[in-house]
Amino acid sequence: MQSPAPIGTDLSRAAQLLRAGKLVAIPTETVYGLAANALDERAVAAIFLAKNRPRFDPLIIHLPNWLAARAYVREIPEKANLLADAFLPGPLTLLLDRNNTIPDLVTAGHPRVGVRIPAHPMARNLLKQLDFPLAAPSANPFGYISPTIPQHVQDQLGDRLHYILDGGPSRVGVESTIVGFEEDKVIIFRKGGIAVERIEAVLGHSVVVQEHSTSNPSTPGQLRSHYAPSGRVCLFDKELPDNLADSAVLAWQGYFPEVPRERQWVLSKTGDLAEAAHRLFAGLRALDALGCSVIYAQLVPEEGLGRAINDRLRRAAAE
Ligand code: TXA
Ligand code: MG
Repeated sequence: MQSPAPIGTDLSRAAQLLRAGKLVAIPTETVYGLAANALDERAVAAIFLAKNRPRFDPLIIHLPNWLAARAYVREIPEKANLLADAFLPGPLTLLLDRNNTIPDLVTAGHPRVGVRIPAHPMARNLLKQLDFPLAAPSANPFGYISPTIPQHVQDQLGDRLHYILDGGPSRVGVESTIVGFEEDKVIIFRKGGIAVERIEAVLGHSVVVQEHSTSNPSTPGQLRSHYAPSGRVCLFDKELPDNLADSAVLAWQGYFPEVPRERQWVLSKTGDLAEAAHRLFAGLRALDALGCSVIYAQLVPEEGLGRAINDRLRRAAAE
């Protein structure tokens, strides 16, 4: 592919390309995904190649509804059903024991597959037209910030895929929460669009939140350095440091007078964590495009969606 993939709203074109084993970027309510037929190993291999993603990092599959998951998994824990009833379709990925229908390449050989039922209407319509699941990681080069509008995808991966389905800006703005089940324990492998507190409320007990290790491939989804812009990211809580030459600021609720406004991005003037999540990745990209040597990023309250936001900021700041 030479010229960048077109951006459009033609669902049947997207479906046709996917049936032919091609890569198509799809909108979801969390972030844009780089999708291919999950049952077609060559198509799945093309995803890894396009993203420059190591093969040890497994992909999740996307389905039109929860019932459809039965064709790809062995058994569904009762707690998974509870969470599915409460949150699906929505920004939650459940790790379930896979059967042999799903190629090894998708799960990087792991016995569990991540199952996601996106809530975005365009994604659901597309999935309903297909008789296979879509493997789809976020549509960004490996290690970079996830895309929340079609243009982000075209800018970075446009020459590596065939079509970009335009479903508008992603509503949630951070990726799905990833939940696994081990004996009686429920483990959050990635904080995301469904807050930990909401999961605990449905289950009626607390869950284990696994924090990120450094770069241990035996625990996928746990790469500490991720979501990284090209410039350095430094975190702060309330006060900016003194030396602000050549720096940009990602602020929680308001501008800092010490820095020109055109070098700042405010996440939510009203202190709304959902709005902050929605604006997070666009803000990091916009500030990164300024080319400053440092982006100072302010942590948000460590509650609800704020935990997912802070997780992304900490990983963006990790060396
Ligand atoms: O919101 C989302 O989940 C987006 C949209 C496009 O659906 N997708 C997404 O995919 O964020 P990706 O590949 O960028 O992130 C999925 C994460 C990866 O970090 C991967 O390591 C982890 O899920 N993962 C996938 N399968 C896993 C498994 N079987 N066990 C543990 N972690 C897994
Ligand atoms: Mg990703």
